[in-house]
Amino acid sequence: MTRTSWLQNRHIVLGVTGGIACYKACELTRELGRRGALVQIVMTEAATAFVSPLTFQALTNQEVRISVLDAKAEAGMSHIELARWADLILIAPCTANTLAQLATGQASDLLTTLWTASECDKAIAPSMNQQMWKHVQTRENLALLIDLGVAVIGPDSGIQACGDIGSGRMTEPMEVVNTLESQLARGPLAHRKVVITAGPTYEPIDPVRYLANRSSGKMGFALAAAASRLGGSVTLISGPAHLETPSGVARIDIETAQEMLVAVENSLDDTDIFIGAAAVCDMRPAKPSTNKLKKSIDNLSTIALTENVDVIQAVANDRRRPTLVIGFAAETDSVLENAKEKLLAKSLDAVIANCVANGDIFGLDNTQVTLIQNDMENPLTPGTKAEVAMEIMTFISKFLSKRI
Ligand code: CTP
Repeated sequence: MTRTSWLQNRHIVLGVTGGIACYKACELTRELGRRGALVQIVMTEAATAFVSPLTFQALTNQEVRISVLDAKAEAGMSHIELARWADLILIAPCTANTLAQLATGQASDLLTTLWTASECDKAIAPSMNQQMWKHVQTRENLALLIDLGVAVIGPDSGIQACGDIGSGRMTEPMEVVNTLESQLARGPLAHRKVVITAGPTYEPIDPVRYLANRSSGKMGFALAAAASRLGGSVTLISGPAHLETPSGVARIDIETAQEMLVAVENSLDDTDIFIGAAAVCDMRPAKPSTNKLKKSIDNLSTIALTENVDVIQAVANDRRRPTLVIGFAAETDSVLENAKEKLLAKSLDAVIANCVANGDIFGLDNTQVTLIQNDMENPLTPGTKAEVAMEIMTFISKFLSKRI
């Protein structure tokens, strides 16, 4: 399996402004979709003269947003919510006029309003006549935007739609997307592949009943979100969990331990870091019934169990072993001792130990863990699972850089 695209599940506002290169924005929309991005198109009025909003609606299955004063659209997701939703605003094609508005902080339509209202990553693919591109005012506007951290993709040189030859053609859609992937995947885990298991597994007894455990999946999801924010290309293999997929994360849903093993094995190529945060059921009913078992004591008191495979141990022993294999140890007593035993028994690089006495950690938003490697015990600051996950991933990224 190839490396997960950094764009996977990223929320992207694609701004389309009025120039002949609008037609390229259609192919760009498709390519972003192919790489798993969730795309909301925002057009300027001028852009609608070049390509119909219906084209983009068909490509994204989403209504195109044009006006900030659209009461119906605002009632769904207001422009401020949309600004918060976006991980990236990409304006392609970006005309000289829009470029000037962005550089001077104007908020004269929906697109420029979103741009000024959002703290997300920003990128533009300029498209204009070569003379406009060379104009001193355009150069100054561009310098201002670069100074603000905006990624500028292109433009390319060549024959222009107007017949001029020079710089100003919008970069080809495939190249725009490739550049986004390489420029925006920043952080200590940029270009690193991280696979994380999360949640419980359900082991069927019959079509209605199953064996499971109390795991909510929150810690694994928080780790996936943190790894993605640190620039990693993240695959999250999750048992049943009622949680939203973190932005930038490719999610694979499974139910049983056996399905989890298959998904993990299919994802293992080129993986740098594997984290087993799932609470995998150690046992499963040996012969799940295809019919619902009737409530007779004979039926329900003699369910034969068989052992499940140890997923993380299989990863640690795989010939494609990731550079770091990190496990969790959820314990009710002798927490650190038991965690150290698991570190050795499963050939792990580190174990994150947490106390689950009284089941008082499951489903909560706060946690307290100790990171254990060989002889080192490192108690982390207690906090929300999101905060602790970020501390764990920051630690792991430093650990990885020492190993490679
Ligand atoms: N794990 C796994 N596959 C299993 C069991 C556990 O991948 N079948 C992983 C978990 O994801 C975790 C680590 O092993 O990273 C330790 O899991 P835990 O449930 O604490 O320990 P067990 O090995 O199941 O041992 P025990 O239940 O006896 O404590």
